[in-house]
Amino acid sequence: MEEAKAMLRKVFLTENEMTFPVSGTGSAGMECCFVNLVEPGDEVVVCINGVFGMRMAEVAERCGAVVIKVESEWGRIIETEQVAEALKGRNPKLVAVVHAETSTGAQTPIEEISRITHEAGALILLDAVTSLGGIPLRIDDWEIDAVYSGTQKCLSCPPGLAPVSFSKDAMKVITGRSSKVQSWYLDINLLAGYWGGNRVYHHTAPISMNYAFHESLRLILEEGLESRWKRHLDNHLALKKGLKVMGLEIVSQEGHQLPQLNAVEIPDGVDEAAVRGRLLSEHDIEIGPGLGPLKGKIWRVGLMGETSKKENVCRFLNAFGRILNDQGFRNETEAAVAAANEGGAL
Ligand SMILES: Cc1ncc(COP(=O)(O)O)c(C=O)c1O
Repeated sequence: MEEAKAMLRKVFLTENEMTFPVSGTGSAGMECCFVNLVEPGDEVVVCINGVFGMRMAEVAERCGAVVIKVESEWGRIIETEQVAEALKGRNPKLVAVVHAETSTGAQTPIEEISRITHEAGALILLDAVTSLGGIPLRIDDWEIDAVYSGTQKCLSCPPGLAPVSFSKDAMKVITGRSSKVQSWYLDINLLAGYWGGNRVYHHTAPISMNYAFHESLRLILEEGLESRWKRHLDNHLALKKGLKVMGLEIVSQEGHQLPQLNAVEIPDGVDEAAVRGRLLSEHDIEIGPGLGPLKGKIWRVGLMGETSKKENVCRFLNAFGRILNDQGFRNETEAAVAAANEGGAL
């Protein structure tokens, strides 16, 4: 447990004492952060540019928060100015943002949002479910107060744990609450006894997950964070290059596209579900559909953790190009695979 905590601190790039994996998936990490930091009546700014921002707003409301929503079109990022506008004349306790919106492929820059949040006297809470281990994420440098992630994305571990980290300021809020945390299971004040030095029994640990988590962190540190971020970026660029040769684009906001989650446009006249079905049944490749307003407009192609490999990019482009061809969307499959294989700049 001590080794896992120490390695997790290195992967989150934080010195925060209270850094450990919550038992449960990413959503448990989300609930853990909100239930511990929010008391009924607190004002919370929630940034929404996809499914997971919406989920944060729902969770905050269930904690009794007065939620102020900052919304962007799905596929676009949350701009710092939008948050600044929401903070004007207000005194919220918390600003919550999704770093990597898995439902749209957009990556919101966090540093400036964090700075203005602190200027307004609030804490910042970050959803790093899809970002941790895939793109630069610097908890201490960016002065993030509370962060949660999940094991099944760029950590390449089975689903089942939610790594979290809380700053000293966040811990002051958590230990100084006037009401009890409404979730007994996720109460950091109690979990601290188990994950702290004393190992006071709280709940039965999902021990096989804890071992898997330990191993995934070990592999990440063996690869090196910077190399891992670069690998994700290189394979995203290879995919983008191949798609471009096919005449297809990644549609999330240019300059803010996630390497690990690629929102690929669906050409006119193509049956998107049939393409996904054939990829899965004939090639063992699963890609995601668009969600919410992006349903029917994009496919979501994940290149996360171990799956972010040049070989996978080429295998995908080859199968995808041929299936699209069968559906009458003419493209240069072989040239696309060759371009991706070559890699380099776009
Ligand atoms: C950005 C983001 N936040 C939260 C979650 C919720 O995590 P889980 O499905 O592991 O509960 C997900 C899951 O895909 C996610 O992508």
